[in-house]
Amino acid sequence: MSDLLRPIEIARPASLEFGAGLVGRVGAWAKERGVTRTLVITGRSGARRVDLLALPGQVEVWNQAQPEPDIPDLDAALRVAARVQPQLVVGFGGGSAMDLAKLVAVLPGSGQTLHEVVGPEKVNGRKVLLAQVPTTSGTGSEAGTRALVTDPATQNKLAVQSRHMMADLAVVDPDLTISVPSAVTAFTGVDALAHCAEASPRRRRIR
Ligand SMILES: NC(=O)c1ccc[n+]([C@@H]2O[C@H](COP(=O)([O-])OP(=O)(O)OC[C@H]3O[C@@H](n4cnc5c(N)ncnc54)[C@H](O)[C@@H]3O)[C@@H](O)[C@H]2O)c1
Repeated sequence: MSDLLRPIEIARPASLEFGAGLVGRVGAWAKERGVTRTLVITGRSGARRVDLLALPGQVEVWNQAQPEPDIPDLDAALRVAARVQPQLVVGFGGGSAMDLAKLVAVLPGSGQTLHEVVGPEKVNGRKVLLAQVPTTSGTGSEAGTRALVTDPATQNKLAVQSRHMMADLAVVDPDLTISVPSAVTAFTGVDALAHCAEASPRRRRIR
């Protein structure tokens, strides 16, 4: 069978906006939906410019997202979510912040633990809105269904994949990436190249 005859499914966020200066669209979108309580998952650099999101109502910022997040990082973010009870979770940063935001959007109140949702399509559902705003340019996490968290006991990355972790809104504003350190730009560029190779119908030859 040729590749053209093999069925494929393309899943994308309900709305994906791309353009310089669009970051404030997140706030307008949240306002249209009556959101009054938001939790932003970000790192230190993102926390300094959360105002750019123009979010309405009460905004709690968890600014501890660090590269290659691990289970204690996730647990800390989940504790904040349990206290804030957000209507909207926003991932604002690189893949590390966005992956944590996905899990913070689906785990609280679900009765499911991280270990119970590792693997494909084990998440029961999602009760809150999820928006993703990348500040790096390589992972594509804002438009995907996967989240990766490291288990410090084994150093393995636990991969959760669920359609419930697909964002309702992704806003890709290239202006946000200007401040990215050059080393991170290089790493994320290789990440983007690897995604292209993985998606190529010629991937078997590349290997
Ligand atoms: N979900 C997916 O499909 C997917 C795909 C690939 C990678 N990942 C995950 O993504 C993570 C890597 O993400 P990444 O490469 O985007 O890097 P990152 O999120 O780890 O960020 C790298 C560093 O850059 C900083 N940073 C981010 N944006 C910045 C900005 N605009 N200005 C200044 N500093 C900034 C961060 O604070 C951090 O210190 C890994 O945990 C990886 O497992 C997920």
